[in-house]
Amino acid sequence: MSRVLAHAPLHARGVLQDDHVKVASEHVKKAPVYDGASYGKNFLAHVDNDEWRRRRFGYIFTVMPDYIKTYFHKMERHAHALCDRLASGVEGTFMYGGSSPDPVFNIHEMLADTAFAIAADSLFNMTDQEIRVWSRKIRWALASGDPADKAVTKTLADWADFTAGVPHARRGPLLEALFELKPDHPESFGGAGKAFADDLHILTLAMHDTTGATMMWCLTELARRPQLQARVAAEAREVLADIEAEAGSRAVTYDDLYKMPLLTKCINETLRLYPAVAYGSMRQLEHDTELHCGPGPDDTTVVPKGTNVMVQSFTNHRRVDLWGPDAAEWKPSRWQGFGDVGSYNFVDGDEDHTTTYSGRNPQSRRFHPFTRAPRDCFGKNFAQAEMRVVLPVLLSKFEFSLAEPTRSTVAGGGTDSMVYQLTGILKPRDGLWMSVKPRSEASTRELHAKL
Ligand code: HEM
Repeated sequence: MSRVLAHAPLHARGVLQDDHVKVASEHVKKAPVYDGASYGKNFLAHVDNDEWRRRRFGYIFTVMPDYIKTYFHKMERHAHALCDRLASGVEGTFMYGGSSPDPVFNIHEMLADTAFAIAADSLFNMTDQEIRVWSRKIRWALASGDPADKAVTKTLADWADFTAGVPHARRGPLLEALFELKPDHPESFGGAGKAFADDLHILTLAMHDTTGATMMWCLTELARRPQLQARVAAEAREVLADIEAEAGSRAVTYDDLYKMPLLTKCINETLRLYPAVAYGSMRQLEHDTELHCGPGPDDTTVVPKGTNVMVQSFTNHRRVDLWGPDAAEWKPSRWQGFGDVGSYNFVDGDEDHTTTYSGRNPQSRRFHPFTRAPRDCFGKNFAQAEMRVVLPVLLSKFEFSLAEPTRSTVAGGGTDSMVYQLTGILKPRDGLWMSVKPRSEASTRELHAKL
């Protein structure tokens, strides 16, 4: 046996979550299955643990909370730029079948573009002009990653050349960290240039596509629930109004971000139902490991060292035996108590995690959108902060509702029928089409009074 897909039938009570914990935390070695992509030798895919560790810990300080808070003003600026684009209507289009002649927008594309701008500005220090030049073409090339497609490989190579030419004084923290490690990349793993480009490419993909998609799913679900959307908007408006009211008007801080418990519940529920990296992780067992092979707690077998195992998030996050009969429903209220102001603990069932950032990056045996340390998501803190900066700005200014063709697609079969693109990231194949109108001050105030 060389591969195991850790996907359990619904009656396999609780066993898969234990297997997930075991595989993800004990076996950090990646399965050698990512090599097909043009950027397959990056540190996300690295099968040599020492080399992976050297690279990850050479870069990760740039996405730790102390650094991230210095990016907040950039996140805010790009969120406001997106609002300006929506208000101008220039990128809107008209779809037959809509209920008005107002423009509709592909919000998925606009959020992915904004997420790219935020990350490229914060982590690489790219200018708005550079972002405009690169955003669409590099996002397209990364989403394909097909090494046989010459246009893809040329765009990826051009991006690596362009960033390699950015002078020291103009490099953002992550770009500078990529440069610092460059001379030390061993020849045995492809040499300095190849390792630099591979890491640059995977970071460029991961830093925008995942967070853009998660915000997109969150807005999709809120658009289906106008009352809840207005309550989240009211909560956001209160926090943003407090910031504006302060003398000299300041950027948001971590404390502000955690004054929005309803938004936090919505984000958590989105990460549960739509974990952007749905497949979780592919690992290679580093030692013989006892895993479950049947429905009962004692149905186990020893899986030999060297076997490739997939530890899916999607499956655990949607299991009826772990979440109840409404597991398939997007229901932020299931996170009652979580994300409340002043609470930095994450309590899920009988599990109480009290580490400093657990309230910001919750994980439990049944909930692991970023999988588990030590090889969990590199950018989880960045993503969590970004979603809490961008969504409040958008929701405080606009009301979002589903437009054609998305509205009919969802009416026909729920959000699952938006057709997931499972080439790495969980996202809709045909975009997310929405109508957007300025949020009425009066209705928001009224709802807020009821909060
Ligand atoms: C909501 C947004 C995000 C989700 C759900 C997500 C999820 C994940 C998951 C499930 C993994 C695999 C971990 C494993 O193998 O066990 C991962 C890895 C990774 N993520 Fe994210 N991610 C997100 C945002 C980001 C951002 C914003 C960045 C960059 C700034 C990023 C960079 C990476 C990298 C580089 C890895 C590889 C880590 C390693 O192998 O050491 N991710 N992510």
